[in-house]
Amino acid sequence: MNSIIDTILNHRSIRKFTEQPLIAEHLDMIIDAARSSSTSSYLMAYTMIGVTDPEKKAALASISNQPYIKDNGHFVLFCGDYHRHMLKANEQEKVTMAYNVQSTEYFMIATVDATIAAQNMTVAAESLGIGACYIGSIKRDLDLVSDLFDLPEHVVPLFGLALGYPDEQQEIKPKLPKEAVYFENTYKDDVAHKAALEQFDKTIETYYRTRTTNKREDSWTKQMVKTLHNQRNDRLTPFVKEKKFNTR
Ligand SMILES: Cc1cc2nc3c(=O)[nH]c(=O)nc-3n(C[C@H](O)[C@H](O)[C@H](O)COP(=O)(O)O)c2cc1C
Repeated sequence: MNSIIDTILNHRSIRKFTEQPLIAEHLDMIIDAARSSSTSSYLMAYTMIGVTDPEKKAALASISNQPYIKDNGHFVLFCGDYHRHMLKANEQEKVTMAYNVQSTEYFMIATVDATIAAQNMTVAAESLGIGACYIGSIKRDLDLVSDLFDLPEHVVPLFGLALGYPDEQQEIKPKLPKEAVYFENTYKDDVAHKAALEQFDKTIETYYRTRTTNKREDSWTKQMVKTLHNQRNDRLTPFVKEKKFNTR
């Protein structure tokens, strides 16, 4: 064990922060950690927008009833971004580039690049004693997010990261065991796979029954049936296409 692995294994999302803004040195360090990430074809196809304006934070928070979107030490919006790549290209080059970045491949690259940067930021933040919570619920009103931050074509908001000094103690949430997520040389057969899930269900049932807050009776497999019965956001596909991503 070393301190990096220790930080990673101790991860838990934090949703209640003190009012203290992130100190400037901490913010710079976690931005540097994000910027240092691996990136496909050196594209660095992402942008981070720090949100400190209380009105913009309140507008973001109005999208869902998650007060930690505004009550935190800092909020960062992560976007997939090919706008900057075309800024210094000539008009003819732009036409071809703008066409090519609309492929699913370039959309996936931007999504993966942004996610790796965000996770580097999260680990760096947690190593400094800063809590973090990813915020996917901003997708519930992508038009509002786009308007709030003047996002041009080829820039699509993906998720946010609420950051701050923790004002709560959370238990670590158990994750799927190695037997359910790491296979060697071939995909696991369903019998062995199910056995691993049944074992995990027992762990998570105990966790939900005994955790300090929001106790409930549930298992992971039951929860997933419910979750994947939810229809997801109908606006997402047209929005992404309007931003000239993933159109072909
Ligand atoms: C892409 C992404 C989006 C998320 N969106 C939200 C969100 O909108 N609100 C929230 O409270 N938690 C959100 N989470 C946090 C997850 O609920 C959390 O990571 C998961 O339950 C596991 O708990 P843990 O992070 O404490 O281990 C999100 C996590 C990810 C990776």
